[in-house]
Amino acid sequence: MNIAIDGPAGAGKSTIAKLVSKKLGYIYVDTGAMFRAIGLFCAEENTGSDDHELIAETAGRADVNIGYVDGAQRVFLNGADVTDRLRDEKVGNMASVVAQIPAVRSTLLDLQRKIAAENDVVMDGRDIGTCVLPDAQLKVYLTASSAVRAKRRYDELVAKGETPDIDVIEKDIIDRDERDMNREIAPLKQADDAILVDSSYMTIEEVTDRIMELAAKAQGK
Ligand code: DC
Repeated sequence: MNIAIDGPAGAGKSTIAKLVSKKLGYIYVDTGAMFRAIGLFCAEENTGSDDHELIAETAGRADVNIGYVDGAQRVFLNGADVTDRLRDEKVGNMASVVAQIPAVRSTLLDLQRKIAAENDVVMDGRDIGTCVLPDAQLKVYLTASSAVRAKRRYDELVAKGETPDIDVIEKDIIDRDERDMNREIAPLKQADDAILVDSSYMTIEEVTDRIMELAAKAQGK
């Protein structure tokens, strides 16, 4: 069984996908983390975000793999566990830049398909339903307004003791959406057979219940 959850940055995909995978006993595959690992590598190599040839050459030296420890996904970059360094805003933005590069996408595509072929998965990303797993038994497109997504991110950062500017956060979110939706290869887009869930005014529990209901239907229960 393959469940694909796609949607824009900050819609709550990973929170929901983790909860759903746990309830179903499936593996959670966070594909954004794979792009983030390559983004981290390029940031460390100081490629900048404009020279795509240099980024492609640099990304070619980044070997990304994933493994599971106590059911949680860990991401390895050239053999080192970098999982705890991937959530940074800068790394997310760089991930969105490297994700435009064809060679990066095709390497990660092979890895993603291999994991889905060998396991029951809940996989989240941008192009899972449209490109990575076109035959997934359930496809969900999870979205929320940019203002709601910015507010959620703002609250997260405030809870960590930071003093963020909500307008800057919303602008970053809109820029990222723009890049992810308008790139040439595998842009973010709702698959024709995906079910739209707008989480703007839903709690985490409500969204999880809705997807569990859809999963039961997809399994024929
Ligand atoms: O979901 P995330 O914020 O961790 O993703 C980081 C970036 O990686 C996102 O802005 C675009 C890219 N990405 C992608 O192009 N395709 C995916 N399947 C997942 C992420």
